[in-house]
Formats: sequence, C-alpha cells, structure tokens
Amino acid sequence: MASGLVAMLGHFPAVLAQASSKPIVADGTSFALNGKTVSYRFHVDNTTGDLYGDHFGGSVTGDIPLESVASVNGWVGTPGRVRREFPDQGRGDFRIPAIRIRQSEGYTVSDLQYKSHEIIAGKPALSGLPATMGSKEDVSTLVVHLYDKYSDVSADLSYSIFPNYDAIVRSVNVTNHGTANITIESLASLSVDLPFEDLEMISLRGDWAREAHRERRKVEYGIQSFGSATGYSSHLHNPFLALVEPSATESHGEVWGFSLVYTGSFSIDVEKGSQGFTRALVGFNPGHLSWNLPPGETLTSPECVSVYSKDGIGGMSRSLHSLYRKHLIKSKFATSDRPALLNSWEGLSFDYNETSIYNLANEAAEVGAKLFVLDDGWFGEKYPRTSDEQGLGDWVPNPDRFPNGLEPMVKNITGLKAANSSTNMRFGIWVEPEMVNPNSTLYNEHPDWVLHAGPYPRTERRNQLVLNLALPEVQEFIIKSISDILSSADITYVKWDNNRGMHEMPSPATDHAYMLGMYHVFDTLTSKFPNVLWEGCASGGGRFDPGVLQYFPQIWTSDDTDAVQRITIQLGTSLAYPPSAMGAHLSAVPNQQTGRTVSVAFRGHVAMMGGSFGLELDPAEMPADDKAALPGLIALAEKVNPIVLTGDMWRLNLPEDSNWPAVLFISENGQQAVLFVFQLSANIDHSWPRIRLQGLDAKASYKVDGNASYTGATLMNLGLQFPFDGDLGSQVVMLEKQ
Ligand SMILES: *[C@@H]1O[C@H](CO)[C@@H](O)[C@H](O)[C@H]1NC(C)=O
Ligand SMILES: *[C@@H]1O[C@H](CO)[C@@H](O)[C@H](O)[C@H]1NC(C)=O
Ligand SMILES: *[C@@H]1O[C@H](CO)[C@@H](O)[C@H](O)[C@H]1NC(C)=O
Ligand SMILES: *[C@@H]1O[C@H](CO)[C@@H](O)[C@H](O)[C@H]1NC(C)=O
Ligand SMILES: *[C@@H]1O[C@H](CO)[C@@H](O)[C@H](O)[C@H]1NC(C)=O
Ligand SMILES: *[C@@H]1O[C@H](CO)[C@@H](O)[C@H](O)[C@H]1NC(C)=O
Ligand SMILES: *[C@@H]1O[C@H](CO)[C@@H](O)[C@H](O)[C@H]1NC(C)=O
Ligand SMILES: *[C@@H]1O[C@H](CO)[C@@H](O)[C@H](O)[C@H]1NC(C)=O
Repeated sequence: MASGLVAMLGHFPAVLAQASSKPIVADGTSFALNGKTVSYRFHVDNTTGDLYGDHFGGSVTGDIPLESVASVNGWVGTPGRVRREFPDQGRGDFRIPAIRIRQSEGYTVSDLQYKSHEIIAGKPALSGLPATMGSKEDVSTLVVHLYDKYSDVSADLSYSIFPNYDAIVRSVNVTNHGTANITIESLASLSVDLPFEDLEMISLRGDWAREAHRERRKVEYGIQSFGSATGYSSHLHNPFLALVEPSATESHGEVWGFSLVYTGSFSIDVEKGSQGFTRALVGFNPGHLSWNLPPGETLTSPECVSVYSKDGIGGMSRSLHSLYRKHLIKSKFATSDRPALLNSWEGLSFDYNETSIYNLANEAAEVGAKLFVLDDGWFGEKYPRTSDEQGLGDWVPNPDRFPNGLEPMVKNITGLKAANSSTNMRFGIWVEPEMVNPNSTLYNEHPDWVLHAGPYPRTERRNQLVLNLALPEVQEFIIKSISDILSSADITYVKWDNNRGMHEMPSPATDHAYMLGMYHVFDTLTSKFPNVLWEGCASGGGRFDPGVLQYFPQIWTSDDTDAVQRITIQLGTSLAYPPSAMGAHLSAVPNQQTGRTVSVAFRGHVAMMGGSFGLELDPAEMPADDKAALPGLIALAEKVNPIVLTGDMWRLNLPEDSNWPAVLFISENGQQAVLFVFQLSANIDHSWPRIRLQGLDAKASYKVDGNASYTGATLMNLGLQFPFDGDLGSQVVMLEKQ
C-alpha cells in the first residue's frame, strides 16, 4: 500500500535569501515576508496550483531545506500531507478547510489555483470593515490571486507585513465571476499549518463579569475549537488565540498570536492532523455565515493579525499592543491622556433628577475628577427610562427629569472646575443605540426593525430586543438620534453599551450584514464627532475586540469592579489588547458583584493599570478616610496615565501563579517606569516577596520612588523587596532613569 517514494516540494531560489531585508520578496512563485525577527514563506506548488506553506517563525535566511513528503498511496492525499496556505475542500485534505463554497449545483468542492500576484506599497483599506492601517514605510502588502476555473470563483489572499511589529495581517476576498448565486458556507481569514507536533494553545474565556480568564491547554490530535455564536465577539471567548511551544512562559519561548479584527460571531479551530501538523483557522463562525454571493459580488473577510515572538507571551502582547495603539485605533485619543472620570451608575442607578446629577458631578469635581458621565436613565418621553423595562430606543431626554433638555444641566456641570485645577469638568453620556425595549415609541412605530425570524418568538433579554443594523433605515435612525443628542449640548464622551446577544435572526448571514451596518454607524459617528471620546461597552467586556477598537479607543473591561478579580481580568485582557484600551474604575465597597471589601488604595491602584481611570460611586457615601484618599489617588492615576497609555507592559507575576501579581509599565522612551505590586493574601512568617523587573536598560541607573538609585541589572536580577502586612496590600513605585 505504501510506496517509499519521496517527493521534493518547493523551489527556493537564492534571491529570497539575499533579499531578506526587504519586507516582501517574490521570486517567481515563491514568496517571503520578512519582519524584524520573523520570516513567513510559502510557494505555489506547480503541479496543483495550490499554495504550500514553508515557514512561519524566526528569521530564516539562505536556502531552506526542501520539504520532503512521503508519497503514500493512502486515504490522505498529498494535500493532506502538506502545509497549505488556503485549504479548500475536496482535494484529499481531510482537515478543516479555510473555505467552503456551496455551488448552485449543490456541491461544495473547489479547486482554487494560483493565477497571479501583486505587491502593493502600504495597505489598502478593507471595504466596510475595520482594519490595521499604515503608510508605505510601515507596511507592505502581497496579494495572491487564486482562481477556480470550474466554478469561476476567485479568492484573493492579502498578506500585509508590519516588519517592526513582526506582524502579518491576512484577509481574503471571494468573488463570484460565474452566472449563478453561490453560498459561502465558511471562510477563515487566517489559516496556517505549523509543522510542530508539540504545541499548547492559550485562549481567553469567561462570561458576564468574569471576562478574559486565561485558558492554556495542550493541542491534541483532532480539533479543539472555541468561538462565539452570540452574534458578537462576546464574553464567552475572545477572538484571540496563541499557540506556544510547551516550555513558553511570559518571557521566554516561541509564541504565535492571532487576533481577529472583528466584532461578530467567530470561530477559532486548532486541528492537529494525522500527519502531526497543527492547523489554526481564525474567521467567521460558519454557523453564522451562509452568505449568498450573487454573480459579480465579493465577500471580504475580516482580517486576522498574526504576530510572532521569540520572547514569550509578553513579547507577543507587546507587539500587539503597540501595533494596535499605532495602526488600528483611529481616535485622536488613542494615546493621549484620558480624563479621570466619575460615572453615575453605581452611585445613583436609575434614581435621579437634574439636581441630584448636578450634585454628584459637583462632588466628582471636588475630589478631582475631570469628567462626569451620566449613565442609563436620562431618556424616554412616553416611556420614561426609570427602570430597565422601557424606553430604550427613544433617545430624547426624559421631560420630567430634564424639562429643558440636557443643555442647562450640562452647561452647569461643564462650568465646574475640577478641584485645585483650572480644568473645566467635561460631560459624558451613556447610550445603548443598538437596542430597543418593546415598551417604547420606537418599537410601536417600527416593530419590523428588530432582529426576528418570521413567526418565531422574539425572545427578550433584559426586556429588550436587538435592532437589525443590517437595515439602512436603522443605521440612519441611530446616526440621527445620536447626532442630535451630541449636538444638543457640550457632550464630549460617549459610553456606547450593548447588553444582549442576538437570538432569532432572519438568516445566519444577518450577523455579518449587521456588523457591516454597525461599522458604518461607528465610522460615520466617530468621523462626525472626532472630539468625542468614545468608550465601547457590552455588559462589560462582551465586545472587547479589535473591531470595536478601530473606532472606540477604550472599552469598559468588565462589569466586575472587584479589585482582586479585576487583576485577573485586566491581565487576561492585556494578552491581546493594550492597557490604554481598558476602562477601569474604583468602585464602592462592599463590591456590588462579589461583596468583598478592599482598601481604597488597592482599588485605586488596580484601576490605574487601565488607560481610562475612573470612579464608580457616590463620594458622599464613602467613609471619610476613603473619600479623603480620592484626590491623591486621582493625582497618582494622572501621573502614571501617560506611561500606561503609551508604554510597554511587562506582566511580571500573574495572579494565577503568584500571591504577588506585579506589572511594570515602561515609557516609550525608556525614561520612566511604574511598577504595580499586590499581595493577595497574608503571608505570615515568610520572607517578603522580591519582585524582579524586566525590560530595563541593564547598564542604566534608575531612581526608585525618588530615593535610592539602582542599576537596571540589579533591578532585573536581584529585584526589589516589598514588605506587606495582611491581606490585599498594594504598592505603586515610580522609576526614573538617571
Ligand atoms: C516544478 O517545480 C519543481 C521543483 O521546484 C521543478 O523541479 C520542476 O521543473 C517544476 N515543473 C514545472 C513544470 O515548472
Ligand atoms: C477586495 O474586494 C474589495 C471590494 O471589491 C476591493 O476594494 C479590494 O481591493 C479587494 N482586495 C483585494 C486584496 O483584492
Ligand atoms: C440570487 O441572489 C439574489 C440576491 O440576493 C436574489 O435576489 C436571487 O433571488 C437569487 N437567485 C436565486 C436563483 O436564488
Ligand atoms: C431631586 O431628587 C432629590 C433627591 O432624590 C430630591 O431631594 C429633590 O427634591 C428632587 N428635585 C426635584 C426637582 O425633583
Ligand atoms: C486641593 O488643595 C488643598 C490644599 O492643598 C488640599 O487640601 C486638597 O486635598 C486638594 N484637593 C484635591 C482634590 O486635590
Ligand atoms: C410593557 O408595558 C405594559 C403595559 O404598560 C406592561 O404590562 C408590561 O409589563 C410592560 N413590559 C415590560 C417588559 O416592562
Ligand atoms: C444651573 O445653574 C443656574 C445658576 O446657578 C441655576 O439657576 C439653574 O437652576 C441650574 N440649572 C440646572 C439644570 O442645574
Ligand atoms: C522612599 O522614601 C520615602 C520617604 O523617605 C519612604 O516613605 C518610601 O518608603 C521610600 N520608598 C522606597 C521604595 O524605598
């Protein structure tokens, strides 16, 4: 049955080796993408026209040994024994395909063969979808055109390399050149086969109020999948995957990170096939696709960012952080200081009027906050939003609470000065524009605007339904209502919430159609109001994804504000997302979610590890000592904020592994650093922890908290010791390079 014949695949001319300093080199039909420390190589197999992967990992130069593939007359054909760039279905590769097209005749076979390629300086925009961006100095793009001559379908694979970040971004266009409709049943933005038998995978799982818990497991033979079928990226799993060598840690080892720039349902599959290769697929959730593609039309996949790091999981995170800060987030606030804010929700909930709001804003100003955010409850005319039972969709101020609109109160609030500063308070507002309560004027007028499937029930969650943002009239309604509110008063911050998943949809394809509509709405509003600081939110971190970050520079990380749990949630979120993007607040104790009481300093210190620091409480109800601590904590938050927003993050100890979680942020120019150290539980009669820093200049000297100076080498190899007493201690230490 088996023949011993060994076929040599591949064609690696010397030109690829010599030109390894160029970001993209194509010689004939062999391709090389070169970053600072990464090489990505693949070629066209000249007998099948298929694309075979050759290498994705540390830099390779010179000739690469040819891949030897045993030619066995078994069930699995050659396509199942090689590393494929874009595996289609029906050619003898029995692993999960990256694309599955249902032809009008019913078959799902395709034969996408290399046709041509082009190299583009820079990176073209992705029509209608969020995407990383850069000038031709930052990024280069290789587009490989594939064609299936039997069905007249083309697939264009786009590979963009950001060499300074060791990041390769891929997306796919599928175009129907035939005469009948076809259905795209599945389409992965990224598909890659790694040759290694032994890998582990890391993902982020959770649920409401416990987002971003790190999950690490061995990649076993067979398929291990996760994803979201909620309609959105979701709390349940984040659209992020890391594959790591088994010995990889935060600071050592090879790591491949994959991050999908998308907010809809998604699917991530890792399959170790019979030959031992590990395939990773990242893209649409096939259960929410079934995309009808009429003749002449194109489906563009979201893009997947892949980063490679030799410096462990932390190295991968730092690449993603800086790439996203500089080449994804469009807002002018991406890396600029965020005002310390006070949000009314945990303090007042739905129960307020003009006066009590003004009074709370005044207290916020007195403790030094710079922005006051009015949360849920301010709108609804016929169906006033005084509870979560009605009013969503009616975006006009509640006339009982605000008889003259928001303007007079906003004017008074923005007239306040934050304590001891010449800064005027800013005013922000909460909205949830994608939702509607059945008890609302909007729903009475437009019952067909909500997601629903014919006669099936319209399942309510939190008494609300989801508007169908695929409909242009819904997009226009939202753009107009939100524009009207923002134009009605001096509102410079918006918290955009989204508190339920999609249940009954008219068709599986509605999920993606909704996303295209939602991105259109986000893009229009954020372009129209560039001076507004937009914060994304979805029952906390239910939509913490790169798609949202393109438009909103920050996202509310979790509705769980318990400071102890927040360490896990924020450090988990930071696997893929920059700390600059995290909203984090100091809230009242006992904590609303966990009932735990934590010192005000510890709560403040955890919150200032996020780019947007805030208060979620009524200062008047705090114990006097805690209230007195607020101005100092706000001042410290403002001091560390520039480093957190733009610096490199080093997760020194993880809360999963250590009683002393610790994080170091080092400013972009290396001059300043801030260290956060926590003790979770009392540590009786045991030596005090020594925290060894990372990422410093070994030869330089650093002044620690304005006191003694130590060299980087000493701080990294010996470390600093922290005397803590009792449960839940915290320290913030500033370092200044001399
Ligand atoms: C196909 O590629 C192989 C290996 O690179 C090469 O030896 C062979 O000449 C090529 N055949 C054609 C028809 O180009
Ligand atoms: C993908 O399709 C879109 C829409 O037709 C087009 O703007 C874009 O240039 C295409 N991209 C590639 C890489 O072919
Ligand atoms: C093809 O798709 C178009 C656009 O959705 C639709 O109007 C048409 O009915 C479809 N044709 C068939 C034969 O299904
Ligand atoms: C506003 O609410 C406060 C506190 O609940 C109450 O004392 C006050 O009378 C209310 N003012 C108006 C105008 O309703
Ligand atoms: C304002 O300054 C006074 C006097 O220095 C100080 O007592 C108070 O705590 C400061 N308040 C804030 C919010 O910084
Ligand atoms: C909507 O209003 C009706 C009539 O006022 C009421 O009976 C019903 O309970 C309300 N529904 C919700 C979800 O609040
Ligand atoms: C705003 O301040 C003015 C002057 O103190 C006051 O007369 C007015 O009632 C305030 N309005 C609101 C809505 O707070
Ligand atoms: C620095 O000096 C101050 C004042 O002497 C002291 O309170 C603080 O603990 C010192 N910090 C460190 C890290 O040694």
